[in-house]
Amino acid sequence: MLNKIGRNDLCWCGSQKKYKFCHEDFDKKIINFKMQGHIVPSRKIIKTKEQIDGIRESGKVNIAILDYISNKICVGMSTEEIDKLVHSKTIELGGIPATLGYEGYPKSSCTSINSQVCHGIPSELDKLKDGDIINVDISTIYKGYYSDSSRMFCIGEVSEEKKNLVKIAKECIEKGLEQVKPWRFLGDMGYAVHQYALKNGYSVVEEIGGHGVGLELHEDPWISYISKPKTEMLMIPGMIFTIEPMLNMGTSEVFLDQENEWTIYTADSMPSAQWEVTVLVTDDGYEILAY
Ligand code: MF3
Ligand code: CO
Repeated sequence: MLNKIGRNDLCWCGSQKKYKFCHEDFDKKIINFKMQGHIVPSRKIIKTKEQIDGIRESGKVNIAILDYISNKICVGMSTEEIDKLVHSKTIELGGIPATLGYEGYPKSSCTSINSQVCHGIPSELDKLKDGDIINVDISTIYKGYYSDSSRMFCIGEVSEEKKNLVKIAKECIEKGLEQVKPWRFLGDMGYAVHQYALKNGYSVVEEIGGHGVGLELHEDPWISYISKPKTEMLMIPGMIFTIEPMLNMGTSEVFLDQENEWTIYTADSMPSAQWEVTVLVTDDGYEILAY
C-alpha cells in the first residue's frame, strides 16, 4: 500500500486507468483502517482482475475434479485409487495437482478418514469401509493459478452422529460466508463459524487454519476459525482465501503423525469433518471460486 503512485499515473491494478480514477480512494480507505490499528492486506493479497479470472478458471477445474470423485467414490475403494483418479483427471483437464511435491508432500490429494483431521496421505492400505466419513481435499494449479477446496463423503451406511457432524461442518461454511463482506474483518467470519460449531456441540481445531490462495497454494493471511469479531485482517474486494474449518466431535486437541509428519489426528480418536471453499471478496459480498 505504501509505494508512491502519482495520482495521474496508471493504477497498480492493471486497469489502464489513472490512479486517481481507479484505486486511490480504495487505498486511502485501507490506510485509514491501518491507522486505527487494524491488520490490512498487502497489495499482493489483493488480486487484479486478470488474476481473479485466472483463479476462477483454476477453481472450475478443482470443482470438476471433485465432481468426478463424488461420482466414483465407494465402499472398498482405496485412498490410493482416489488419488490416482484425482491425478489423471487433473492432467486431463490441463491442470497440475498443487500438492504433489509441495514441501515434499507425496500425493495429488489429501484423504482424511474419520479421526484423521486433515492431510491424510492416500495409500493402497486404506480402503473405504461402510460407515466411514472421508474428506477429499484437492488443490489445482491451472495456467499458473491456484485453487483449493474439499468435500466430505459418507461411505455406505453412516451413523446419524457422524452424518450430523458432516452436515454441521458444511453449514459452518455457510455461516462463515454470510460474514464475507468488504470492509468487515476475517475475525467476524471465524467467530460465526466457531459459534455455530459450539452451538451444535462440536469443537473447532485451533492450530490449523485457512489461507490466502491464488498465486501460490498457501499465501497470507493465515485464517483462524476461533477468532473474535472486529479482529484479524480487514476483508477487501479482490482478496481470495479459503474457508476450511475442522470440526471435531470430541476434543479440539489434535496431534501430528510422527511417522509421515503430515497427517493430523484428533487426540481422542473421535471423528472430525471439514469442508473447504475458495472464496473471493467482491464489491458487495463474496463469490465462491471453488467448492
Ligand atoms: N488443500 C490443503 C490445504 O487446505 C493442502 C495441504 S498441503 C499438503 O491447505 F501438502 F498437505 F497437501
Ligand atoms: Co486449504
